[in-house]
Amino acid sequence: MKDYQKYILITGGAGFIGSHVVRLFVNKYPGYLIYNLDKLTYAGNLANLRDIEAKPNYRFIKADIVDGEYMVKLFAEHRFDAVIHLAAESHVDRSIASPMEFIMANIVGTVNLLNTAKFSWQDSFTEKLFYHISTDEVYGSLGEEGFFTEETPYDPHSPYSASKASSDHLVRAYHDTYGLPVLISNCSNNYGPNQFPEKLIPLFINNIHHSKPLPVYGKGENVRDWLYVIDHAQAIDTIFHKGLVGETYNIGGNNEWKNIDLIKVICEVMDDKLGRPQGTSEKLITYVKDRPGHDLRYAIDSGKLQRELGWTPSLQFEEGIRITVDWYLNNQQWLDEVTSGDYLKYYEEMYLKR
Ligand code: NAD
Ligand code: DAU
Repeated sequence: MKDYQKYILITGGAGFIGSHVVRLFVNKYPGYLIYNLDKLTYAGNLANLRDIEAKPNYRFIKADIVDGEYMVKLFAEHRFDAVIHLAAESHVDRSIASPMEFIMANIVGTVNLLNTAKFSWQDSFTEKLFYHISTDEVYGSLGEEGFFTEETPYDPHSPYSASKASSDHLVRAYHDTYGLPVLISNCSNNYGPNQFPEKLIPLFINNIHHSKPLPVYGKGENVRDWLYVIDHAQAIDTIFHKGLVGETYNIGGNNEWKNIDLIKVICEVMDDKLGRPQGTSEKLITYVKDRPGHDLRYAIDSGKLQRELGWTPSLQFEEGIRITVDWYLNNQQWLDEVTSGDYLKYYEEMYLKR
C-alpha cells in the first residue's frame, strides 16, 4: 500500500456532521488516508458519501465503538496517527425516551476509544492526537444575556447532554492522568444538507413540503445559535491542524434565533420555493407539549477560536437556509429513504401521542 502522510480514523463519518468532515478531509488532503468508522445506526447513511466513496484515500469500516475488543484489533492492524471522534447518539428527544443507548454510545464508546488509543500508542504519544467533537449543550442553559465560553462550568440537563459532558470529562481525564494528546471542541446547533429529519430544520422543511403540522415545543421561545455544517467541518479542520493539545475550543455561528422566528423564516422560504402564497406554511404551525428539561437559550462565544486559530464562519444564515431548503427539495429520494421504516415508528411515538 502507498505510504500516506497521516492515517486518520474518523468515527461517525456516515452521520450528518461526520460526512461533511470526511468529505472535506478526503478532498482537501489527498496525502492523508481517511478511515470512516461507523456503526450505521438509523442516523448513519453511506449515501451521504457517495461522491467520495471511490477516492483512493478513503476507506469505510462498519463497526461499533462500544466493541472494545474489536477496537484494539483494529488499532493493531492500522497505524492510526489521529482519531477525530464524532460517533454518538445525537438527538435530545431520543435520549429522553431511551437514555441507555446514549450512555453506551457516548460514554462507554468514548472510553473504549480512549483506552484503545492509549494502549495502542503507548510507545510514544508524539505526533498522535485524539480529537473529541462535542456540543455546547454541556454548558446548560443561558438566560436572556451572556455567552458560553470555554470556562463556563458544565451544567447539562438532558441525558444526551449529560452523556456528552461525561465523555468530555473522560477525554480531559485521559489527558491529565495519562498524558494522552487530546483536543475538544464544543459546537452550537448545526444545519445544512444530510441532517436526519428528526432535527428541527430538516423536519420542518419535510413537513411543510408534505403539508403536515409543524410541532413547535412550548411557546417556541427557546433560542439556538445556528451554524452551517460546512463551517463546522472547516472549524474542525482548523482545530485539528492548529489547535494546542489539551485545549478546548468553542465553535458557534454568532447567529441566535428564537425557534418561532426561525420557523417563520423557513415557512417564508418554503412558500417562495414551492410557489405557494405567502402565509400557507405558517398555518401548519402547531404548538405542542414542551420538551422536558428544555434548555432556554444557547449562545456561543467563539472568540478564542477566531483570535487564536483564525477561523470565522463563512456563510450568512439567510444564504445558508436557502441552500439548505434547496438541498432537501432537490434530494427527495434521500429524504424518502431515511424517513421510511424505523423512522416512521419513531415519528408516531414522538408526536402523534404528544
Ligand atoms: P448524527 O446522529 O447525524 O450522526 C452520528 C453518527 O454516529 C451516525 O452515522 C451513527 O451511525 C454513528 N454512531 C452512533 N453510535 C455509534 C457507535 N456506537 N459506533 C459507531 N458509530 C456510531 O450526529 P451529528 O449531528 O452528525 O453529530 C455528530 C457529533 O457532533 C456528535 O458527537 C454530536 O454530539 C456532535 N455535535 C452535533 C451538533 C449538531 O447540531 N448536530 C452540534 C454540536 C456537536
Ligand atoms: O446545540 C448543539 C446541539 O444541537 C447538538 O449537540 C445536538 O446533537 C443537536 O440535536 C441539537 O440539539 P437541539 O435539541 O437544540 O436540536 P433540535 O433540532 O432537536 O431542536 C432545536 C430546537 O427546536 C429546540 O429548542 C427544540 C425545538 N424543537 C425541536 C423539534 C425536533 C421543536 O420545537 N419542535 C421539534 O419538533
